[in-house]
Amino acid sequence: MNILIIGGAGYVGSHCTRQVIKAGHRPVVLDNLVLGHRQAVPPQVPFYHSDLADQATVRHVLRHEKIDIVMHFAAFTNVGESVSNPVLYYKNNVAKTLALLETMMEENVLKFIFSSTAAVYGIPQTIPITEAAPTAPINPYGQTKLDCENLIASLAHAHGLSSAIFRYFNACGAAENGSIGEAHTPETHLIPNAIRANLGIAPPVNIYGTDYPTPDGTCLRDYVHVDDLARAHIAAFDKLDRPGTLLRFNLGNGRPNSIYEIIQTIEKISGKKTPVIVSARRPGDPPELCADATAARTQLNWRPCYDNIEIIIKTAWTWHISHPNGFC
Ligand SMILES: NC(=O)c1ccc[n+]([C@@H]2O[C@H](COP(=O)([O-])OP(=O)(O)OC[C@H]3O[C@@H](n4cnc5c(N)ncnc54)[C@H](O)[C@@H]3O)[C@@H](O)[C@H]2O)c1
Repeated sequence: MNILIIGGAGYVGSHCTRQVIKAGHRPVVLDNLVLGHRQAVPPQVPFYHSDLADQATVRHVLRHEKIDIVMHFAAFTNVGESVSNPVLYYKNNVAKTLALLETMMEENVLKFIFSSTAAVYGIPQTIPITEAAPTAPINPYGQTKLDCENLIASLAHAHGLSSAIFRYFNACGAAENGSIGEAHTPETHLIPNAIRANLGIAPPVNIYGTDYPTPDGTCLRDYVHVDDLARAHIAAFDKLDRPGTLLRFNLGNGRPNSIYEIIQTIEKISGKKTPVIVSARRPGDPPELCADATAARTQLNWRPCYDNIEIIIKTAWTWHISHPNGFC
C-alpha cells in the first residue's frame, strides 16, 4: 500500500517510515521541516517539503502518489510552550489537522492513523490507564490532541472516515543500527537529556521531585520503544477496511520505570555518573503513568519487542554517541 507519512522527518515518523518499508509498503513523506530533519528520511522515499495545511500540495500528493492510508505524526509537542503560547498549538495541531482531513474527505482518502498521547488523560484516577479512562487534559498540548480525536470521531460518523488513534506513553529509543534517533530542539524528554548529560554534551539533567509516593520517590513513567510504536501502527492497516471504523489504543510497555532507574541504567551502560539537579515537583506531574495496552495486544496482536529498559536505552545510547550533534 501507498502510505503518506505526515511528519515523517520527525522522531516517531522517521522510525515509522523505516518500519513501513520493512513491512513491504511504500512510504511517501510530507513534512515542513520546522522541527524535523531531511536526513532522517531515507533518500529513496519520495519527500514533499510542505505544510500539512497546504491543501493544494496535499491534494496533489494524495492523487499523484495514489495514497491509500494517511499517517499523521506532525504536531507541536512541548507542553510548557503550549501553556505559554496556546494559539500556536491550536493552529498547528488542531486547525491544520482539520485542513488535512478536509482535503482527505474531498479526495475520498478515508483511512487515517493519528498520533495521540497519554496527555489526554490528564491526572489519571486509576493505574494502569485503559482507553476507557476519563479524558481530562491539564494543558493545551493534551487538549489539542483530544480535540483532534473528537474531530476524527465526528468525521467517522459523518463521512465514513476509518481511523486508528494511538495514545503513546513515553516514546523512546532509536533505530538499532544507530542511523536515526531523537533530535529535538529544545529536548524535553528524560532519556536523551540524561544520556547527553552523562556524555558531558548537555547540562545536568533535572529531576523534578524526589518525594513522590513511589518506591524511590521519583516519578514512574511507561517507556515504549519507538519501533514498537511504529509496528502497532502498521498492524492497524488491515483494520481500517470498514467505513466509519474508529479504534483507540494505548501504547506502552505496562511496566513503568522511575526517573532514578533511568539514570542508573544509563550509568550502568556508560560506567560514569550522570550530573543531576534535584528540584521541587512540577505542577501537574502525577506520581505514576502506566498504560494498560491490552486492547492493542488483543485486537492488533501487538507485543512490544523491546520490553527491557536497558536494551531500550542502549539503542538511544548508540544513537547519541554516534551523533552528538544530532543530524547536524
Ligand atoms: N515523542 C513522544 O514521546 C510522544 C509521546 C506522545 C505522543 N507523541 C505524538 O507523536 C507525534 C510525533 O512526535 P515526535 O516526537 O516525533 O515529534 P517531532 O517534533 O520529532 O516530529 C514532528 C514532525 O512534524 C513536522 N511538522 C510539525 N508541524 C507541521 C506542519 N504544520 N506541517 C508539516 N509538518 C509539520 C515537524 O517538522 C517534525 O518533523 C506527535 O503528534 C506527538 O504529539 C509523541
